[in-house]
This record gives sequence, structure tokens and C-alpha cells, in this order.
Amino acid sequence: MAWKPPEDPFQRYPNLNVVFSVGAGVDQFNFESFPDQVRLVRMLDPGITQGMVEYATLAVLALHRDLPRYLAAQHQGDWQALPWVPAQRRTVGIMGLGNLGQAVAEKLLVMGFKVSGWSRSNRSISGVRSFAGEQQLDEFLGGADILVCLLPLTESTRGILNADIFRRLPRGASLLNIARGAHLNEEDLLAALDDGQLSAAMLDVMDEEPPRSHHPFWQHPRILLTPHVAATTQMDSGCDVLLENIHRHQAGLPMHGEVDLSAGY
Ligand code: NAP
Ligand code: GLV
Repeated sequence: MAWKPPEDPFQRYPNLNVVFSVGAGVDQFNFESFPDQVRLVRMLDPGITQGMVEYATLAVLALHRDLPRYLAAQHQGDWQALPWVPAQRRTVGIMGLGNLGQAVAEKLLVMGFKVSGWSRSNRSISGVRSFAGEQQLDEFLGGADILVCLLPLTESTRGILNADIFRRLPRGASLLNIARGAHLNEEDLLAALDDGQLSAAMLDVMDEEPPRSHHPFWQHPRILLTPHVAATTQMDSGCDVLLENIHRHQAGLPMHGEVDLSAGY
């Protein structure tokens, strides 16, 4: 069981049957090194889901209610109200409608937001407008006032938050990345914020964690940064999930969260 595996785990532990990821993401593993008989299982901990729902709600509300601009105004001693847009007139577009994306979507619906989602295959979630694949990406992006990334990091999604995606969003949209730092092209984000295509961003993850001390995101007035804290595996519920999976494996049953190594998630 590992977050980051040791060098050459399969040489060191030749009898391995299963590798359990401590986290929900599995991009830290080198899939090509996996022998055929070894399975990779990601963590489907209800504690992670709860943490992600809490954080995504906080962040979507912060972007929705212009918190980055109010924080910058506070530091300049500026007391100015911005126009308020009710949640019912704001669409949150979630990239990745899996375990976490779906839980986040359901909570945002309760708060009154319009919610759409984009995934590889079409997902049916009550109240959520679902889009799938490249062919529906344009339509999905065109309606997303707040874009949330909850995709796994794979060869198809690396760098997906880039200029090409930003220009297809409504002008002044905002971005929330709670998946992996390598989804984001950082230069493209800075350019989109500079020219007003994006109004603000909240980022929980960075390609380099922590970012170097002179990284432009630290002081950017329209970027809110948190240190990869959106959701962490909880010891009690995470252990329950792990033990259940070990029992399932021993009984010859499929485990919860088995990764399709060919799809990368
Ligand atoms: P998941 O259940 O595997 O869901 C992934 C979703 O992304 C699915 O809807 C999938 O589509 C979609 N997807 C994958 N590749 C795609 C592509 N190329 N194009 C369009 N859609 C694609 O994953 P999860 O449990 O929700 O977790 C998502 C990610 O959150 C993790 O991989 C991890 O990186 C991140 N995470 C971050 C934190 C944090 O603290 N910041 C904590 C936990 C997890 P289908 O439905 O069609 O398969
Ligand atoms: C955290 O980032 C996780 O993947 O669980």
C-alpha cells in the first residue's frame, strides 16, 4: 500500500498481487512497470468524498461571489460592491463526472447552481446536463461560467486546462482545479487572466508542490492557492475500505476501485 511506491517495487516484492493507492489518484504509478498479474486499486474512501464536496463547495462559492476580487480590494482599502449574480443564473461545468465529480455536482445542485458535466462516456445524473467526449466539449465549455477540473491525470488529460479550452468558455469565466497540477498550463492561465478571458482561479494542486518561492501564482491578485488539501484519505474510513477490499480479493471478488491500466484511471 503506497502513496508513492518505492523504486522497482516488483523486483523488491516479487510475490505482490495487489497495489493499493492511499489516494484516489493513481498517476504517481508507472503503469508500464506493472506485471500482468498485479492489480492496482485506488482509494474510494467516503472521507475523501466528503472532503472534496466541502472544498469544492467552498471554492465554487468563493468564485461565484467574487472572493478573489474582494480580497484584493480589502488589501487596497477599497470598499466597493460588485454586482451579485444568483446561483440559479450560474452554470458550474465539471470536467470528470466520476466518483468525486458526481458527489460535487449533487451538492452544487442543492445550492441552486445549474450544473453540467463532461466525461468520456455519457453519465446520467438527475439534474445534471451531461456531455461526453471531444464532440460535445465545445457545447459543454460554452455554457460553463465556473469550470471545475476533477479529471484523473492521464495521457489524454495532461495539460487539458489550456488556452484552447479557456477561449471556448464564456468571457470572464473562472477556473477551479482540484484534480492535479499537471492538468493546467500555467502560462496559459496567466495569459487568460491578463486579457480578461478568465476572471479568477482557485487552485488546490500545482505541478510542482510546493511551488518555488518566486512562482507568479503566490502573489497573483486573482488566484487563490491552497496546498493540496481539498480531500485527504481518512484513517478510519480508509482502513475499512482497504480491509473490505483485501477480503474481497481473498474471496476472489472484484475489488472496489480497481484501475483499468489501459485507460489510466
Ligand atoms: P473517477 O471516479 O475515476 O472519475 C474520473 C472521471 O473523469 C470519469 O467521469 C471519467 O469519464 C472522466 N474522464 C477520464 N478521462 C477522461 C477524458 N479523457 N475525457 C473526458 N473525461 C474523462 O475519479 P475520481 O475518484 O472522481 O477522482 C478524480 C481525480 O481527483 C483523481 O484522479 C485525483 O487526481 C483527484 N483528487 C484530488 C484530490 C485533492 O485533494 N485535490 C483528492 C482526491 C482526488 P467516464 O465516466 O466516462 O469514465
Ligand atoms: C489526493 O490527491 C488523492 O488523489 O487522493
